[in-house]
Amino acid sequence: MKFNNILFKANNGITTITINRENKLNALNKETIEELHDAFYEADKDKSTKVIILTGSGDKAFVAGADISEFADFDIEEATVLAAKGQEMLFNFIENLSTPVIAAVNGFALGGGLELAMACHFRVASDNAKLGLPEVSLGVIPGYGGTQRLPQLVGKGRAMEMIMTAGMINANQALTYGLVNHITALEELIPLCEKIASKISQNSSVAISSVIKAVNANFTDGINGYGVEINEFGKCFGTDDFKEGTTAFLQKRKADFTGS
Ligand code: COA
Repeated sequence: MKFNNILFKANNGITTITINRENKLNALNKETIEELHDAFYEADKDKSTKVIILTGSGDKAFVAGADISEFADFDIEEATVLAAKGQEMLFNFIENLSTPVIAAVNGFALGGGLELAMACHFRVASDNAKLGLPEVSLGVIPGYGGTQRLPQLVGKGRAMEMIMTAGMINANQALTYGLVNHITALEELIPLCEKIASKISQNSSVAISSVIKAVNANFTDGINGYGVEINEFGKCFGTDDFKEGTTAFLQKRKADFTGS
């Protein structure tokens, strides 16, 4: 697949998708959002992909936001469509992907950039990371799920303060808030994400897909998460991976999962 704005590298079960607009601090323009959708779709479809790592090019930014130059003259209708399409095509799409996605936050994650990181299943940050939702300083609000996912991750009060002040928090604060799971030196960021990814890769990918569905159900209105968990739990018993996992345990050997 040929992309203009992203790099796509698949290696040993780990696919790394890098947003590659370094001179615009990897800001998300329309084409990048579309390419990211296609890249995630491709990676997820490829059963050899066990984990996806999402990061930004360079040592300054993960993503410094939606590309302000593209929407500065939008009217109400165009803005509503922008948010709705973006949420559906990329942010909700990533959140509900069956393959786990780790955001490797390598610098600024602002506005749509933090929203993108929050749509991933979890986040690891470099110690130079700065995270925030500065939209109200532009006279707008987060439109790619930020008002919903930030309170889920950090709690309502902290989310309100971050969004209302339009301020940035550093990596240490993000760790304290639970917005990122780990912080590390910039040069160690991808190696650490790969280490976590390879740990995940050793487990049953079909069970992990069920985990994503069940955990996400907790955050979906009108869905009984306990019911989803029961359903997914039951479904696991019909998989080869369950048979292999339990047999391997009883035979005191390491399981060799096929992901089916
Ligand atoms: N949309 C479009 N372009 C952006 C951008 C965005 N969200 N963020 C950065 N850029 C561009 C800048 O316009 C600049 O382009 P230019 O060199 O052609 O002028 C380039 O990226 C480098 O950014 P610059 O502002 O010069 O870097 P800096 O180190 O001085 O500041 C930031 C870094 C992140 C503080 C600053 O770029 C910024 O505030 N960006 C916008 C953040 C934001 O409000 N995001 C939410 C959008 S809804």
